Formats: sequence, structure tokens, C-alpha cells
Amino acid sequence: MREISTSMWTRRRFGKAALAMSGVLASQLRRTAAQAPVDARVGVSGPDSLRAHAALRGMMYGAAVIPALLDVEGVAAGGSKDPYTLLVSSQTNILVAENAMKWAALRPSADSFDFAEADRLMRFAALSGQRVRGHNLCWHEALPAWFKATATTANARTLLTEHIQKVAGRYRNQIHSWDVVNEAVNPKDGRPDGLRASPWLELAGPDYIELAFKTAAAADPTAKLTYNDYDIELDTPEQSEKRGQVMLLIRRLKARNVPIQAVGVQSHLKADGPMPGTGLLQFIRDMAKIGIEVFITEMDVNTVGVGGAPELQDAAVANVYRDYLGKVLGEPNVSIALTWGITSAHTWLNESKEPWAKRSDGLRQRTLPFDDDMNATRAFRAIRDAIDATKHVTPVAPLVLGPAGRDPGGLYKPFPVQGSPTNESPASQPPKPATPPAGPF
Ligand code: G3I
Repeated sequence: MREISTSMWTRRRFGKAALAMSGVLASQLRRTAAQAPVDARVGVSGPDSLRAHAALRGMMYGAAVIPALLDVEGVAAGGSKDPYTLLVSSQTNILVAENAMKWAALRPSADSFDFAEADRLMRFAALSGQRVRGHNLCWHEALPAWFKATATTANARTLLTEHIQKVAGRYRNQIHSWDVVNEAVNPKDGRPDGLRASPWLELAGPDYIELAFKTAAAADPTAKLTYNDYDIELDTPEQSEKRGQVMLLIRRLKARNVPIQAVGVQSHLKADGPMPGTGLLQFIRDMAKIGIEVFITEMDVNTVGVGGAPELQDAAVANVYRDYLGKVLGEPNVSIALTWGITSAHTWLNESKEPWAKRSDGLRQRTLPFDDDMNATRAFRAIRDAIDATKHVTPVAPLVLGPAGRDPGGLYKPFPVQGSPTNESPASQPPKPATPPAGPF
């Protein structure tokens, strides 16, 4: 297994590499901007990128990525020419592995771990000056094949604890935030507490959530510990009920002093569906009152219900990004938005065979800010406009990671939480660099 050796990178070398890379990125992406079918006047690279616009406002824009597709070696050698790699480097300041940090990916057998892909992502992010969200430590899906035959009521708590210790411990002090527990609420299962009747609940008991958060806090005291869920955005009866149960869960955890700092609202929306309304905004404000940040963690827009021509899909998708992000990014405790993928060339919506993902005309979905050819879509402009309109107007310098992959100036901690393990005392903070070197932007 290859170890990440970010400590070998001095800040000077890092700054030089970042500057060199930004030159390559600008020239590679100039072509993409010129080819953009929707509005050739919209630049997409360098200072025009989502990354740069977000950083200027103290925010983060990010995307789920497939580490195996990232040309880490090229970036380490001074510049990659791979279009996907260039897009990810230039447009995002936070990344999440779409699958590479899930149990199924990390646990080939009950007593072994395979960190190759996860390490690859961490190395790429360190080289590119990006933060990383960890996704996820505990979920009822993406469990390895051996899990069903191995996990029992007698060993489930140990399995969960040891997994979190090992995984969160490996990336201690390097992860922006961990989705500690994913999708644990499902009112349809009929429990009074709204919890999903998942293998974890059934084998480890309902306090497995508390156990997971406490274990994660001990394993990585600087990551923001997050509860992440879907179908809590709309004001439909089902989603309102689920959002209410998520709210109650977070309140119960806070009341018991369980270390939790954020809620992830996944935001898988539909181009022809109802738009989120006042319920979600109220939820976000109620979270602010109890010191919880809200991250938009997995946004994309399903186009199965709209016309298939690129311009029709793009217009409908852009409207959803503009309206939704315009609303939520106006809230002071929402300063991070990630899309689930960055280009429709790689999105679960184009891979799934499910009827709700398959277009009846056989065309591919255009769900993200870049299309199959890595050209910017109208969604790019909509996302950037929403970022520009945010009230997070405090300009910040570009993120420059220290040798250990930390954020030395604390630039991306806009919403400190009382009593949170992520609030380090001044004495425990790493020293600030005297003169921050220039970042990629
Ligand atoms: O890795 C195997 C590969 O070896 C095999 O050849 C291939 C054959 O189909 O399957 C591969 O695994 C698939 C994996 O994606 C990687 O492509 C799994 O079958 C497939 O189930 C898996 O789907 C992922 C899904 O989560 C389940 O883990 C999607 O890519 C991923 O986008 C999706 O992401 C979830 C978030 O984690 C949580 N929120 C909802 C979101 C969308 O469902």
C-alpha cells in the first residue's frame, strides 16, 4: 500500500506546483470555455471557475469524484492533461469519494482493509489544495458481501467501532467532515423514533448512531461530524415528515451531548418536481439555533420527466440549481455545496437502470454543471450565480494546506459550533504561515 507523504511537500513547493498547475488548467480549459454551447461569453476557468467564486465568498463548492479516474501521477509530476482531472482540480475546493470510502470499497474481507482508492483521493486533494469530505462510516447500503453472514448482535457494535477507529483514524486531521451516519431515518418503517429498520439498528440497537458519532469524535477530533440524508428537501407530506424526524434525531443527539456538528441535505432533485419551499428553510434555521451547520452534500437534478433535447434539459436543470441554491446559500449556516459528480459523463443517474433514472427516449441525462464532453452547461452559470449571490461575502484568501493537509488559517470554519471538538483552542492550532504563498487562483 502506498502511503501519502504530504509532509514531504514544503509550502513553497506546494505553492509553486499549484501555480504551475493553474497555468496548465487555464490553457486546457480555455478551449472548453470557447466550446461551451450555451454562452461562449462565460469563462469557466481560473478566476471564472466555481472554485474561485466560492473561495472569494468564504464558501466551498465541491463534487463527488471517482478517484480511479484522477490522474494523480500527472498532477504530482507538475501538471495533468487529462480533462476530467483538470475539471476536478480547477472547479472544486472540496471533494468526496462517490464510492471509495464506503464499507464495500474499504473492506474486501472482515479482517482486511483496502485503502488504495481512498488514499488516492487524499493525495490528489492534498496536491490540488482541496479539502475532502469522508462518505461514509455507517450506512445500511454498500456493505460488503461478507457482512450479512458475519455480523451478529454479539459483534455488530465491535465491528462498527473498529471500522470507524481504523478509517477515521487513518485520515485523522485531514478530513473536512465525515458523514458518520448516512440515511438512518425512514418513517415508512413505522418506528416511533422514525429510525430505519437497518441492519445496524437491528444488530447493534438504536443507539448505534450515538456510538458511531462518539467513536468518530475520538478517532478524528477535527473533522466536522455530519448526519447525512435524502428526501428531506420538499414540502410534500412524506418529505416533511421525514425532515421532522431528522430534526428530532439531531435534537436528541444534541440533548445527550453527542458530538455532531452538521447535517447533510443530499438534494437529489427532479427537473419536473416540486421545488423545496419554506419547510427546508425553517429546518436550516432551526439547525442554526442549535449550532448545527447544513451542508448541501449530493446535489443533482434528474431529467427523466423533461424534454430530452440538450437545451430543454439544460434550461430545466439550471432553473432548479438557480432556485434551490439561491435559497439555501442565503442562510448563514450553509456555506458548502457539493454536486454528486461534476460531469454527466460520470453520474449514477446515467448508470442506473432503474425506471426513475432511465429516460424513455434513451437519451442521456444532463444533470450536472458539465456535460458528457466536459463543456459547461447552463447549470454551471446557475450555480455560480447562486454562489455570487450568497450573503457569505467575507473574502478569503485561497485555501493553502499546510504540510499535514490542514487548513492553517482556519479559513473554512465560518460557523464555529459551541463546544465542538472542531473548535480548537488557540494553543492547539498550528502556527499561521508568515506569508501565505499564492494558491491556484
Ligand atoms: O465496484 C463494482 C464493480 O466492481 C462492478 O464491476 C460493477 C458492476 O455493476 O459494480 C460496481 O459497484 C457499483 C458501484 O456503484 C461503483 O460503480 C455498485 O454495483 C453500485 O451499487 C454502486 O452504486 C453507488 C450507490 O451509491 C451505492 O453505493 C453509486 O455509484 C453512488 O452514486 C450512490 O451514491 C449514493 C450515496 O452514497 C448516498 N446517497 C445517495 C447516492 C445515490 O444513490
